[in-house]
Amino acid sequence: MTATDNSTVRDADALRADMVRALHDQDAITSEPVAAAFAVVPRHRFAPEAPLDLAYDLHSTVPVKKDENGLNLSVMSAAHLQAVMLEQADIKPGMKVLEIGSGGYNAALIQELVGNDGVVTTVDIDRDVVDRARRCLDDAGYGQVKTVLADAEAGVPDDAPYDRIIVTAAAWDIPPSWIKELTGNGRLVVPLTVRGTTRSIAFDRDGEGLISRSYRLARFVPMQGEGAAKERKALLRDGVVVQTDDERVPLNTKALNQALDTPRREFWSGAAYDLPDELELYLTLHLSSAARLHASKEIVDSGFVETSALLGVPALVSEDSIAYRTRRENEDTGGFESGVVAHGPQAEALADEYLKLLRRWAENHRCRGAATIRFLPGPAPSTLPENSVLKRHGIVAVSWH
Ligand SMILES: C[S@@+](CC[C@H](N)C(=O)[O-])C[C@H]1O[C@@H](n2cnc3c(N)ncnc32)[C@H](O)[C@@H]1O
Repeated sequence: MTATDNSTVRDADALRADMVRALHDQDAITSEPVAAAFAVVPRHRFAPEAPLDLAYDLHSTVPVKKDENGLNLSVMSAAHLQAVMLEQADIKPGMKVLEIGSGGYNAALIQELVGNDGVVTTVDIDRDVVDRARRCLDDAGYGQVKTVLADAEAGVPDDAPYDRIIVTAAAWDIPPSWIKELTGNGRLVVPLTVRGTTRSIAFDRDGEGLISRSYRLARFVPMQGEGAAKERKALLRDGVVVQTDDERVPLNTKALNQALDTPRREFWSGAAYDLPDELELYLTLHLSSAARLHASKEIVDSGFVETSALLGVPALVSEDSIAYRTRRENEDTGGFESGVVAHGPQAEALADEYLKLLRRWAENHRCRGAATIRFLPGPAPSTLPENSVLKRHGIVAVSWH
């Protein structure tokens, strides 16, 4: 080993120790086994092209492969998110685990958690990614992890059933194979996209279906292949996009652009704005015609669209009008008050519907962890129950407590 190699190893060891401490401090790591796995697996060996400080940054992904437009197809996921998901998965020694979406690092962490008596299989749809993961795993001493090239929509039957399945790409749906390949008391941790927002959900088997034990907001590269999401997008103007996966929602680009040209109108709910994750889930399930409004930083900085649209905000859309959530400081009570910005001829009617939901949520459901999410597989029911969203392989149903 050269002097440079020695100092790289020392730097990486120090950065890794800092990373583990910070993941603890930020409550991403909450258990001893997960801390031990992060402390031992050399993360930089799975990102050999990246500078050490990027490889060990808590919240950064490391690019692995991009499409022809420069969008990420594969990345090494951020350490913070990996820690959160491994805690959600509650992996024990001796378990059999399937990881969907490969890179090598997360599979190595899982191998540490299951130990020598456990089995880890990682599957990816992309040959380059599988080959790279294989090389990194062998190089870092995790030759026992199995790598498979396949579209995970059909599952990986050879090693099934699995005690845990961890999905590391944003899934729009839950194909039957993932439930079928879980043991009776198995757990599926999946970044599931519901009406445009992705949450990492820990689901346990519940009869034929699944019931959530925890959920956290998460961002992932999209699932490719058979299970890829089919969304419609309206590009309203540079940096403003409205998108939806709900076939019933009208997306009339010209009329919505005209709506944005009409003066903005603000309406205030008088209700508190906080716990945005639960609020957004509630809104997207109850808005009669729900889409998601995204705006670039330049457009937000120009004051044309509210900051809430930077990461995407639930929007209520009609043929010619649009309304979306905003907030302002509440000087009387502290914190924030929720409100609505609306444009177009039906601005008032849309704002009225939106405000009712903001108030109802604040009165009845404003509580961290208030949602229980179920996945009920099977054909579409003749009428969709309240609080649910139709998928290809079943419905996502949410109850509030
Ligand atoms: C965020 S990366 C995986 C990160 C990895 N788990 C790690 O250790 O950091 C997501 C991966 O999912 C893969 N993927 C997307 N759709 C897939 C599918 N249908 N089946 C299997 N893999 C898929 C992509 O090719 C990509 O490599």
